[in-house]
Amino acid sequence: MLASSQLFNLLKFAVPLIVIIWTVAYFTTSPSTYREYLRTFKDEKKLFISDFLEHEVDGQFDGSSIADLCKRKTWTPGLFLSCDSPAGGVGNVKNAHLNCIRFAIEMGAELILPGIIRRNDKNLADVYPNAKAPIRGDEMDYFFDMDHLNSSLSTYCPQLRVYRSLNDLWEVPSLLTAYPMSIGELGIQLVNTSIIEKPSPVSTQIKTYVNQKSPPADRKHPVRFNMRVTNWVWPTESDGAEFARHFGRILRVRTDARELAAAALFNLHKRFNLRIDPRQGIKNDSFVGVHLRTETDAASNDKFPSYEEQAAYYLDYAVRSGNPLVFLATGATQANITAFVERARDFNITTVLKKDILFDPEYKAALDKFSYDQRSLVDYEILLRAGLMTGTSESPFAWNLAMRRRNAYDGSSAVETTGGDYVQFKDRFSTIFGKGEAGRIMQATIWP
Ligand SMILES: *[C@@H]1O[C@H](CO)[C@@H](O)[C@H](O)[C@H]1NC(C)=O
Ligand SMILES: *[C@@H]1O[C@H](CO)[C@@H](O)[C@H](O)[C@H]1NC(C)=O
Ligand SMILES: *[C@@H]1O[C@H](CO)[C@@H](O)[C@H](O)[C@H]1NC(C)=O
Ligand SMILES: *[C@@H]1O[C@H](CO)[C@@H](O)[C@H](O)[C@H]1NC(C)=O
Ligand SMILES: *[C@@H]1O[C@H](CO)[C@@H](O)[C@H](O)[C@H]1NC(C)=O
Repeated sequence: MLASSQLFNLLKFAVPLIVIIWTVAYFTTSPSTYREYLRTFKDEKKLFISDFLEHEVDGQFDGSSIADLCKRKTWTPGLFLSCDSPAGGVGNVKNAHLNCIRFAIEMGAELILPGIIRRNDKNLADVYPNAKAPIRGDEMDYFFDMDHLNSSLSTYCPQLRVYRSLNDLWEVPSLLTAYPMSIGELGIQLVNTSIIEKPSPVSTQIKTYVNQKSPPADRKHPVRFNMRVTNWVWPTESDGAEFARHFGRILRVRTDARELAAAALFNLHKRFNLRIDPRQGIKNDSFVGVHLRTETDAASNDKFPSYEEQAAYYLDYAVRSGNPLVFLATGATQANITAFVERARDFNITTVLKKDILFDPEYKAALDKFSYDQRSLVDYEILLRAGLMTGTSESPFAWNLAMRRRNAYDGSSAVETTGGDYVQFKDRFSTIFGKGEAGRIMQATIWP
């Protein structure tokens, strides 16, 4: 009797103790298990969104190659570069901004960041509204995460001093006027329409031009040069593979747009049971992303293939993939959208657009407040995560996506088809259709 009550007392303490020891041992020997365990208490959707925001598809940003380049340059305090503000969609604007920043590094200048000209939302083909007025457009936050840009540059290229706009330099009157600067004025030799043939002499060419316009001996005050909008110029490979891979990521899509994309992707994943984990890069059997580029500005530009040609490429691609779900990213007319959705249905393919999967009231309201080009940022972020993605080679937006998605795996060893009849680029995640030289030029000059 006594023995059994002693045993009972012993067990009363021993059992919980063993459970505690076991639990502690289990979780401390395996911190990731502990983290997984904590995650089960969090709201599934919130977790998905935070995973999405913290994990970009192409992995951790690494600016060390940017740091190496900046260390090798000669920097001149009091020499400023500003650049005209570009217009259009994110693919175009991002490339112009990166060319501007790349030139500032080459010049060893202090940089006044360019803005972004806002398109006329009532007439999408009107990308430069009030072209005659001296406007600088909106600040970069219109598309990009300014804090990320600033912290990336101050961490990896501290030599490059950055100003949000000329307003921040109001107390320096000598900066009010600027010497013009362009590829032509610098005497830079181009090949393939717009690509710099030899980047290595560019810094000397800039220096010669700058010193001729503003001889250092006479330079008593800070001096500013202003570069015209410059696109598809710098050959990205010339700075090495690591720089080419990371430089474009200093311009990250603004966080609220990424959050909308995350919420939309979560809803898509739940509705179709796609088993997407935003921490795991791209899952090729999740869904097919299609960028249909037939908006009025493209339709009025005969370089772009017609609706019929594009729809035929993309549906063929989707059917071949065997995936029955298409996410359609487009600002095209309702007639084009309906035509695509119905044609896809004939092949038993379901098509969704972001408005179909962004139904949460607070997110829907945020999307409605966005301009046309800002809404396309949400498409960009969803397409980055698509299992497979396709678009047309006249579109910098499509190229940017394909090249960034290539960086989600070791794309250097990928089998790529360039050329062929209508395929300009093909790797395991993306296919770009189209003809003509424009695509090859963009491929050589895009930092994704
Ligand atoms: C960049 O960040 C630094 C320090 O956080 C701040 O002083 C500076 O004003 C910022 N610059 C811009 C252009 O936002
Ligand atoms: C120019 O185009 C040709 C033919 O497509 C190509 O072989 C060459 O590498 C291109 N040059 C540059 C600098 O991109
Ligand atoms: C997805 O990737 C796997 C593994 O690399 C491959 O076997 C499969 O064919 C791919 N599926 C598609 C639709 O590309
Ligand atoms: C698609 O849109 C273009 C441009 O608005 C228009 O010309 C064409 O007729 C449309 N095609 C279909 C099938 O809706
Ligand atoms: C679509 O699905 C229906 C019903 O499952 C089937 O009868 C039809 O053959 C399918 N069509 C195609 C093009 O696969």
